[in-house]
Amino acid sequence: MTIAAHGLSAERSGRTLLHPTNVNLKPGERVGLVGASGSGKSTLGHVLVDTLRARGTSVAHVPQSPDEALDPLRSMAFHWREAEQALGLSPDDARRADLFNALQIADSDLRKRPWSWSRGMQQRFVIAMALIGTPDLLVMDEPTSALDPVVAAGTMGLLDAYLRDRQTALLLITHDLGLAARWVSRLMVMEASRIVEDAPTPRLLSTPETKAAKALCAHRNWLELPC
Ligand SMILES: Nc1ncnc2c1ncn2[C@@H]1O[C@H](COP(=O)(O)OP(=O)(O)OP(=O)(O)O)[C@@H](O)[C@H]1O
Ligand SMILES: [Mg+2]
Repeated sequence: MTIAAHGLSAERSGRTLLHPTNVNLKPGERVGLVGASGSGKSTLGHVLVDTLRARGTSVAHVPQSPDEALDPLRSMAFHWREAEQALGLSPDDARRADLFNALQIADSDLRKRPWSWSRGMQQRFVIAMALIGTPDLLVMDEPTSALDPVVAAGTMGLLDAYLRDRQTALLLITHDLGLAARWVSRLMVMEASRIVEDAPTPRLLSTPETKAAKALCAHRNWLELPC
């Protein structure tokens, strides 16, 4: 199912946080939402998630830090059960094993609380939880920024392999153009609460048109990128 949300906007205390914005994603499409800090990426992510959920679209949201998704007083098994229940699903060992194998956390102890798992493992667990209901869209807001680059790349690689050939679309929100460029086929650039550029990844990297996109390309992290 193509995901289309038009006229998304946000305002707080008379201040515009998001100018009217359209977002379209094809089934299985991977799109990056990049832009400087404060440009409105997370705001757009939240408005998109709320709007689509209100319409009945199945959308999962992975926050920046696993701390936002995991209660330090509850076991990992509790979190998993709670996520299944929230989706109205009965426990399914095969589904859990499938996701745990995909995210390479199958050997971890579910009776433990989050703090006895590494942050990288916690974030993989949160991503696995987000995929329980086979959502139409997965919105990830800076999902790996709290992880070291090797663990971050490993996690994105596992997610990439899992999502391949599936219908779940991905919106990857990040200020790291290098990270996004590696995993998405299209990039949307935000500046001052609006999308100012929307182009296939290779084109945006080779010929950025707006000031915001040029600035991101000029300050990319991964030197081998051809922009
Ligand atoms: N609930 C809110 N109330 C008032 N202002 C807000 C609220 N949420 C965000 N803002 C403001 O909206 C603007 C955009 O914020 P947002 O968090 O969407 O940016 P961002 O691109 O995600 O930044 P970052 O890369 O730092 O995460 C910022 O100026 C922020 O201060
Ligand atoms: Mg943000």
